[in-house]
Amino acid sequence: MRVGWIEDRTGARQWFRSVRARLSRPLPLKSAGITLGSVALFLLFLQFVSGALLTVYYVPSWSDAHDSVAHIVTEVRFGWLVRSVHVWSAHMTVAIVALHLMRVFVRGAYARPREATWWCGVLLGSLVAGAAFTGQALPMDEEATGGMAVAASFADSVGAGALVRGGPYVGQATLSRMFAAHVVFIPGSLLLLITLHLALVGRHRLQGAETMEGSSSAFPRRAALSCSGALAVLAVLAVAWPAGLGSEADPLGTAEHVKPMWIFLPIYQAVKGIPAWAAPLLLAIPAGFLILVPFLPWRRPVLAAGAVLLAAAVALGVLGAMA
Ligand code: HEM
Repeated sequence: MRVGWIEDRTGARQWFRSVRARLSRPLPLKSAGITLGSVALFLLFLQFVSGALLTVYYVPSWSDAHDSVAHIVTEVRFGWLVRSVHVWSAHMTVAIVALHLMRVFVRGAYARPREATWWCGVLLGSLVAGAAFTGQALPMDEEATGGMAVAASFADSVGAGALVRGGPYVGQATLSRMFAAHVVFIPGSLLLLITLHLALVGRHRLQGAETMEGSSSAFPRRAALSCSGALAVLAVLAVAWPAGLGSEADPLGTAEHVKPMWIFLPIYQAVKGIPAWAAPLLLAIPAGFLILVPFLPWRRPVLAAGAVLLAAAVALGVLGAMA
C-alpha cells in the first residue's frame, strides 16, 4: 500500500527497474578493467560522505584551520579514521581515474560515437585533480601554503592570479577560495558531469556491447566485487597508515622544500627552471592531446604518442620525487 503511494508520486520503482534492466544488458566482461569507472564512482561517493563529516569540525580560517584539523585527528571520536579515509580515498580515486582513462585510451573507446563521453571524462579527470589540489591546501600545514603559492604564481602566468589569491597576497581570501572550490564548486560540477557521463555511457553502451544480445547479471556482481576489493585496500591503508598532518605553516616563511601530491610531481618538475609564461604552454601539450584524440584517426601513432607522454610524465614524476 505504502509502496504504491510512493510509486504513484515518484515513479521510483519503475526507475529502479529500468536501471536494473540496463545493467543486466550483456557487456564485454572479458575486457580487463571494465569496472574501473564503477570503482571511481564508489570511491568518490566515500569522499563525499567522509568530506561532509569533516566539514562539521573543520574551520576554514587562516589562523585556526591547522588547529581544527589537529582537533579532528586527536580529539573527535573516529575523526582520525574519517580524515584518513578521506585522504586515502582521494589518492585512490586519482589513481583509479588515471587507470580508467588509460584503459579507455588503449582500447580506442574515445572514437565515434563516444567522443562526448571522452571529453566529459577529460573534464571529470581535471576536476578530480582539482579536488585533490584544493583539498591539500585546507590543513594549513607547510605543504598547503606552498601549494597555494605555486598555484597563485601559475595562475599569474595566465592572468588569473587575482582570482586564485583573492587579493595581492596569498592569505585568508586564498584559503576561502580553496575551501569554496573544494566543498561547493568542484563537488557540484562533479555531480553534474558524472550524471552526464553515465547518461552518455548508457546511450552508447560500452565498446563491444553494441553487438551483444540477451541479458546477464554478471556486471553488477563484478562491479560489487571490485568495489569491495577497493574498500578492503582503503581500510588497510586508512588504519595502518593514518593520514599525517604537517607542522603549522609559518605565514611569513617560504616553504621551498615542500613537494606537491604525487599526481602533480610531473608538472612541478617540468616547470622548474623555465620562464613562468612557458609553464601553461607546456601543460597545454597533454591537455590538447587529450582533447584532440577523438579527431585523430591514426591508431598506432596515437598510441605511440600516448605512450611517450606517459613515459615523460613518469620520468618527470620520479625526478620530482627524488629532487
Ligand atoms: C570521476 C571520474 C570518472 C567516473 C566516476 C567515471 C565513470 C565511468 C563509468 C561507471 C563507466 C562505465 C564502466 C567503465 O567503462 O568503467 C565509464 C565509461 C567511460 N568513461 Fe568514465 N569515469 C570517469 C572519468 C573518465 C575519464 C577521465 C575518461 C577519459 C578521459 C573517461 C572516459 C570514459 C569513456 C570513453 C567510457 C566508455 C568506455 C567504453 O565504451 O568502453 N571517464 N566511466
